Amino acid sequence: QLSNVKLIDLPKILDDRGNLSFFENNKQIPFEIKRTYWIYDVPGGELRGGHAFKEQQEFIVALSGSFDVVIQDGKVEKRISLNRSYYGIYLPNMLWRSLENFSTNSLALIVSDQAYDENDYVRDFDTFKSLVV
Ligand code: TYD
Repeated sequence: QLSNVKLIDLPKILDDRGNLSFFENNKQIPFEIKRTYWIYDVPGGELRGGHAFKEQQEFIVALSGSFDVVIQDGKVEKRISLNRSYYGIYLPNMLWRSLENFSTNSLALIVSDQAYDENDYVRDFDTFKSLVV
């Protein structure tokens, strides 16, 4: 459900030598990290994602540049722009999501509470809708 999506402000340690932010398991983010991956070198106009996860939850940060996270719970769609490295978006399972509108040199960091498992993906939107309504 979209109401369970959370924008999370991360700690920001300001320093003349350069700033620092972080997150830890079950503290800033509400799960334990099993996997980290990142998306980069996205050509202009390309889109990533376009699927839902049956079980896995994730937290997404724009470490560099900007992109939009478009989420859909089967009824309502919401677009959230990420463009700072000191906040991110928490997505629970069973939401259709895509990452769009990547700026040049943007870097999307994604952490998940599950190992990669193709069986956890729902890649067909009609199937997703039939599972959530
Ligand atoms: P996928 O999650 O479909 O990409 P996106 O949703 O961002 O468009 O992943 C693309 C391919 O990369 C997928 O077929 C398998 C591989 N992959 C892994 O091996 N491990 C991973 O952790 C991820 C995210 C993907």
